[in-house]
Amino acid sequence: MKIIIIDDSKMMLTMAEKLLYENLYRIEIETFKNPVEALERIRKSNVDLVITDLIMKEMNGIEVVKEIKGNKKLEHIKVLIVTSIMDYDTLMKCYEYGASDYILKPFNKNELIARVRNALREISLQKKLAGRLEDINYQHEKLKEANEKLKVTQSALIQKEQLAGIGQLAAGVAHEMNNPLGFIISNFNMLNQYVEIFLKLMNKYDDLELEDENIKKFKLENDYDFIIDDFSELLSDTNSGLARLKDIVKSLKGFSRINDFKELTEFDINEGIRETLIITKNEYKYIADVETNFAEIPKIQAFGGEINQVFLNLIVNGVYAIKKMVDKADKENKDVERGKITIKTSEISDYVVIEFTDNGCGMKKEVLTKIFNPFYTTKPIGTGTGLGLSISYDVITNKHNGRIEVDSIVDVGTTFTIYLPKYQKKTND
Ligand SMILES: Nc1ncnc2c1ncn2[C@@H]1O[C@H](COP(=O)(O)OP(=O)(O)O)[C@@H](O)[C@H]1O
Ligand SMILES: [Mg+2]
Repeated sequence: MKIIIIDDSKMMLTMAEKLLYENLYRIEIETFKNPVEALERIRKSNVDLVITDLIMKEMNGIEVVKEIKGNKKLEHIKVLIVTSIMDYDTLMKCYEYGASDYILKPFNKNELIARVRNALREISLQKKLAGRLEDINYQHEKLKEANEKLKVTQSALIQKEQLAGIGQLAAGVAHEMNNPLGFIISNFNMLNQYVEIFLKLMNKYDDLELEDENIKKFKLENDYDFIIDDFSELLSDTNSGLARLKDIVKSLKGFSRINDFKELTEFDINEGIRETLIITKNEYKYIADVETNFAEIPKIQAFGGEINQVFLNLIVNGVYAIKKMVDKADKENKDVERGKITIKTSEISDYVVIEFTDNGCGMKKEVLTKIFNPFYTTKPIGTGTGLGLSISYDVITNKHNGRIEVDSIVDVGTTFTIYLPKYQKKTND
């Protein structure tokens, strides 16, 4: 224990120092005649107890107490006041400022030792308590961490199960649709050829001008001329509809990549985004235009199914942010530019970079610091799960050793940037 004694009488200092050294163990004493110098020392070294005279030339004892107790770094130091006058008011002031006890001058040897011993005992108890408190705080922190981890793991498990389930369902539906769609398309092509022949035949009849009144009447009643005109348009519309269906089924199959939830495979990022855009078209088509700006990037090693889920989350979030912006503008009767989502890919050394930018509502700083936390959502209850971004974070950083960053300005928009390494060092499951 380190003790500092302040008194402007050299004799008192020597006497007190001697008495304490003779009667107490494991203490270290420094004495000061000048309280200003003493305070300087107190600020610099680890002092446990200060014993100070009340009336001194440079600075009185009250000031010393004030100085120590008013300093966050020193306030734990105990202060004993030594006083010769029984000046009750001054002593009370010292207590008010935080002194713990007083000693009457001239010293009674036993009283001095008893009071100092008491003070030291209290200090040692306090230290033990502080130690315990620190332990408890540490354990509390550990528990909190464990709880956070548990939450993340739990949410990851829930999501993984859901994803796998949805993926399986999508893959199944796509597979089932693939066959009928295949024969519809091939039958339709045949139909196309047959119809062409029929039309040619009808033309030949027309050329013969054999029509009697009956046929003329029939043609008129049934809009024959219109039908002939409309026929080819109908066929070509149907053709492009079928082509789109084929695209959707193919995308659904590609998107769900049921095996790519379990294994690292070669994955074409641009293709993944394209497929995801087809799957989510219904989400964005009335709200935003999507512009893609794809660079020729190499395929990377990835769990493609999971990466596609990240793309889906980011697109859906962007659409929601744009919707929010539009709703707000509607309420305030303001015009707002049309929603736009831009998706850009590029490569930087060993990474491919994917940027998702929207001109939606953006986020405040307080929101921005929490979006990757599991279950954090600003959406109304029952709307958002708050899992999209925490899972995305897990997929990008933990499963692929990549990085996901976000920039956002309120009322202007948001950009999420993903960095994915082209090669994975080892599979981590
Ligand atoms: N593009 C974005 N623009 C504005 N806010 C966003 C955007 N993406 C995410 N956020 C914010 O992050 C929150 C968490 O997103 P997410 O984890 O996907 O959960 P959820 O979409 O279910 O709320 C959202 O509720 C929203 O406040
Ligand atoms: Mg979301």
